[in-house]
Formats: sequence, structure tokens, C-alpha cells
Amino acid sequence: PVDIRVNDLLSRMTLEEKIYQLNQYTLGRNNNVNNIGEAVKNIPAEIGSLIYFETTSDLRNSVQKKAVKESRLGIPILFGYDVIHGFRTIYPISLGQAASWNPELVEDACGVAAQEAFTSGVNWTFSPMVDVARDGRWGRVSEGYGEDPYVNGVFAAASVRGYQGDTLSAKNKVAACLKHYVGYGASEAGRDYVPTEISKQTLWDTYLPPFEVGIKAGAATVMSAFNNISGIPASANYYTLTEILKKRWKHRGFVVSDWDAVKQLITQGLAANEKEAAWYAFSAGLEMDMTDNCYQKHLGKLVKEGKVSMEAIDDAVGRILRLKFELGLFENPYTEILPDDKRFLLPSSLNVAEQLAQESMVLLKNDKGVLPLKKEQKIAFIGPMANNRLHLLGSWSAHGDEKDVISILDGVKKEKGFLAKNILFAEGCGFDGNEQRGFAEAIRVAEQADIIIACLGEKKTWSGENASRSVIALPRIQEELLENLKKTGKPLVVLLSSGRPLDLSRIEPLADAMLEIWQPGITAGIAVAGILSGRYNPSGKLPITFPYTTGQIPIYYNHRKSGRTHQGKYQNITSEPLYSFGHGLSYTKFEYGTLKLSSSKIRRGDTLRAEIEVKNVGNYDGKETLLWFVADPFSSITRPVKELKYFEKKEIPAGESRIFTFDINLERDLGFVNEDGKRLLENGIFYIMVKDQKVKIELID
Ligand code: IFM
Repeated sequence: PVDIRVNDLLSRMTLEEKIYQLNQYTLGRNNNVNNIGEAVKNIPAEIGSLIYFETTSDLRNSVQKKAVKESRLGIPILFGYDVIHGFRTIYPISLGQAASWNPELVEDACGVAAQEAFTSGVNWTFSPMVDVARDGRWGRVSEGYGEDPYVNGVFAAASVRGYQGDTLSAKNKVAACLKHYVGYGASEAGRDYVPTEISKQTLWDTYLPPFEVGIKAGAATVMSAFNNISGIPASANYYTLTEILKKRWKHRGFVVSDWDAVKQLITQGLAANEKEAAWYAFSAGLEMDMTDNCYQKHLGKLVKEGKVSMEAIDDAVGRILRLKFELGLFENPYTEILPDDKRFLLPSSLNVAEQLAQESMVLLKNDKGVLPLKKEQKIAFIGPMANNRLHLLGSWSAHGDEKDVISILDGVKKEKGFLAKNILFAEGCGFDGNEQRGFAEAIRVAEQADIIIACLGEKKTWSGENASRSVIALPRIQEELLENLKKTGKPLVVLLSSGRPLDLSRIEPLADAMLEIWQPGITAGIAVAGILSGRYNPSGKLPITFPYTTGQIPIYYNHRKSGRTHQGKYQNITSEPLYSFGHGLSYTKFEYGTLKLSSSKIRRGDTLRAEIEVKNVGNYDGKETLLWFVADPFSSITRPVKELKYFEKKEIPAGESRIFTFDINLERDLGFVNEDGKRLLENGIFYIMVKDQKVKIELID
């Protein structure tokens, strides 16, 4: 029935009306949001979509009213917005979400974001970002799910389910947008917007899989990326946009460009002018032009000149209209105006945010069990992050408000496991610069305590779009603060808040314990306090390698093998990362049993199951995530040293055991794709691996 409605509407539209649907303007940045009348005047009634910045439901409804009442066919506008890790209830950045290894929780969190966004007039979020990223210098590493294609795929599907639910037209649901298609994470030297060199093999092995999973999960839309993929920019790439996305994966939704990306085909050296840029992008399969008006200005002429066909225009417009029908926008174009306390920061939403925050935190080091802290200890919280709110929100925090954030200091003061009188504080220094004036006070405070918690990290503006860093260590001033605190001889715990993996080569030797908290969002302080006091047992694990130093980048676990494994090492530093993918400690101890396989020789079509028992032999209840890897030692296209194929997180009470199982699908888990995306399964030996155990199997036919 939706297709009938789409075709009916299309048959009544003029070319000009159709072209309007293919364009997105902005609402709330260039328009005066305080003057609704003036803002509405600037928006054409026929426009297809608006990026909906900081604005009100009143303004949104007024603009929508213009579209519905004043345009000839009354087609409602689609309002899109960057709801990346929460709308008002800000939860951890995506990199932190991945560190939770808990897709169900991420699905719930995206459900919260969808509800807050929907009730604020947003129909479409530009999320999730599923760019595999292996270079911590790149600021946008914070917005994705880390270095592994499988992990990105799992969280792509979870967030699509959370945003969209089962029916797009349901209340409190929004359309998702997989971005940035494709290969944006391969940005050279970690710089944003720069070209990428990606072979077709690597495209299929590494960058496409999370998108394929997200499409299968039903993602309504896709955003093309800013990067140039080995000569053909992603926004004009027929192979990726049409051959793969539309023809092979049969995606029926539409592709939106990134901001001004159609016009940027000129600066990328593909198109000589805006008209050519519009032609390149549209012909490649990009349906909606975000903000640069190239489609608006030139598509009509291109149709009249016969360079773009009416069928292509109808297909593109039809895709956009279909989503509007599916979202129920024709029936319910307006947003119900609700008071803030009926839509934002609901107790259940805060609970999801807190659970996700605490599960995302990764205990990197805990020598002699300094953590959790003890109630009677005097604790000095020192450092620029201890009493900060803003930077805990993280990049792209939509309508997140610094005032909602519970700082680390506020969190620990409220924590039942601590005595408020035992909590001391000194800032010590700023996030950067070289002002050491606060050091003396920091030392004075530290001297009075039994243990020091150094709260260090990155400002929120140091990651995200166009926020690359050439060295991913913390600024020297923060390291110097730590060096001075170390001189007190007190036990030293380091809390790190960052939007990327960090180079901790100078920090790690000084710390007795380290907890990576990422940018945890508004419940930061409660989650941190819960972990420090032992109310929560840390269960996060790294979804991205922490290099030993920046110079090791790119460094990731699933690299191909070299010919001389004993050579090719650095002369001056270790060639190993400081913390590998999957690293993360717990307050309890998990003992792994023997990895067992249902069979050691298999034939095509057989079923194969791997199993392992894990026992919690420590004193705390805890959650353990078991990572299942596969290695294919010899194949016609060489495979990485190992590849993650499945993971599962289970709660294991102290003293109890749980069985983890992995049902191996031969094609999916032992096979691989060639450079045309064709799946191959070759006979021979494989290894199923868990931690330091590996079991051999042979596929004989
Ligand atoms: O969604 C974003 C994208 O990730 C980066 N450029 C701007 C877009 C819209 O705000």
C-alpha cells in the first residue's frame, strides 16, 4: 500500500516539486529561531527535509504547517538531526558503548534517544556511525564502535533496532541513518575529510560489513561519506552507492550526502562546477543533497538536457516519499507539545544511561587490588576532570546540557560507600597549557589522603568531527601533575576520560590502577562512584587497541601476517600495544575451562559448536564477555592473524560457572569474501580461539 501511495503522489508532482524533495535545508542555525515568523518565511513550503538544530517544537510545527497547508500537495517535511549518543539524556559516546559489549543495553539507550528526539519533533537521526576506525588520531573514532568490523555490525544492528523499533510509524521511534558510507574511518594520518586508499578487498573485508549488517537490520537511510575512495569520492561512487547498496543489498531507503559534500566534489577534483557535481552525485545513487543546494539549482536543468532521466528522479523521490509514508508523517505531521518533564531525563532513561556508563568503563590496570576503595579511606580527587561537567558529555551531544551532568566529585560525595568528610579535592591544573600554579595545592591535599584519584582526560572538543590530534597522549601538564602526585608515595589511581584510545606510555608506569571512563554522559559521576566503591564491578573491555605510543599507529589486532614475524619490530620501543583489543579487568577472577569443539573434522553442511565453561572464582559477582575468534592459517587470499566472529556477555555470580557457546556457521564464520564481495569457503585447517586457547578443526569437503 505504501508503494501505491508513493506512485500516486509521484504521478501528481511537477519536476520542480520533485526536486525540492531531494534537498535538505537547515532549520535553527542560519534561521532566527526566536522569530518564528521570519524563520518560517525563509523555508520553502515544498522542501524535502530540514536539519533540525537547537530549536523548539513550536517553530518546527510552524514550518511543518507551512509545508502541509501552503504547498500544493501538502507533503510534510522530514526533520533530521544528529542524535548521536542521546538527545537530552546523554549516555556514553559510541566508542564507550562498544566497550560495554552489551548490545541490548545499547538498543535500550537508542530507544531512549528516539523517544526524546521524537517528542521534540525529530523524525530521523543521523546515527549510527559504523565506520571501522583504527587510527586514534582521528577525532571521529569517538563516534563509532571501534576497530573491528564484526563489533561495528553488532552495534549497528542494535542501534537501528533501538531507534526504529518494529514499526517506523510507532510513537517515539525515528528513522536511523548508517554513516558514513564508506571507508571514512580509513582517513590518512588520522586527519578528517582527507582521501582514503582502500583496495576492493579491504573494502569488502573491513569497511562494508557493518553497513551490510545495518541494512539487514532495516536501517531506513544511509549517509555518504566525505572521503575519496581511491579516486572516486564516496558521494559520487556508483560502485558503493548503486552496485552494492541498491543492487546487491536491495536497500529501498535513500542516501543523503554529508554536509555540503555534493559541492565538495569540486574541491575533491572530480567535478568542474556545481552542475557537474550534482550530476556525478545523483547519477552515482545519492538521493538527497544536504545543505549545499546543488541539486536544487541544477537537477532540473540536467533533466531538461536529457542528462538525468525522469525515471531516475522518480526513483529517488519515491524513496524519500516512501520513508515519509512509513514514518506516518502524512497522518501525523505535527509534534505534540509536551512539558520537559514528560519527555526528558525520565527515571527509566537515567537508569539506562547509568547502566551503560558503568558497563562501558574499562579497568585497565589494578595492581594489588587498590580498587575498589574502602569506606574508611581518605580520598583525594585531583585533576581537571574531577569537578568538570562539560567534557564528560562528549562530542556531538545534541540537546545535552552541562547542568544535567553529575560530575565525578558530586557522584562520589553522594555514594553510600564513601563518607563525604573523607572526600578531598584539588584541581591541580587545567586540561592543557603550562600553568603549574595549582600543583602545590594539589600536593598539599594529596598529602592528607590515603589514596589519590587523578582525574585526567580530554576536552570534549578534542574528538568528534574535524578534531584530530597528532599525538594521542594527554597534554604534558596533566602528565606533570601526575609525576608530582607520584612523589607523595601515596597509591595513585588514574581516571581517564577520552574520546579515543590514548598513548599512556608515560602515565601507566606511575599508576597503581587505571580506569578508562570514555565520555560517559550525564550519569558519569554516579557510574564512576559505583565502580570506585565496588557497588559496580567493572565489566568493560577495549573495542580498540591502546597503542604503546602514537608512533605505532595504525595498530589493530586483526592485521594480516608478515613474512618475517621475528623481524620488522621497532628498534626503540616495543612493537606490542600497551593494551590490546578486548583487554579489561574485573574485581573478580574468571577461570576459563577447556575449550571444546563438537567435532574436529567437518564437512560442508555440518553443524559445529564450540563450548567453554567460565567460573567466577573471586569474591565479587561479575559480568564476563567472552570473545570468540577464528583464524584461517592458509587461504587463497591471506586472512588476518585472527578475527572476532562472536561475543557474549554473561553475569556470573561469585562461586558460580556459566557455559558459553558459539554455534559456528561454516560459510559465515570460516569463509571470507573476495574483492568482488563473493563469499568463499575453502577446505583446510582453521582454529577456534578463546583467550590463549586454540583448537584446530579441519574442513575436509
Ligand atoms: O551527520 C553529520 C555528519 O556526521 C558530519 N557532518 C554533518 C552531518 C550533519 O550534521
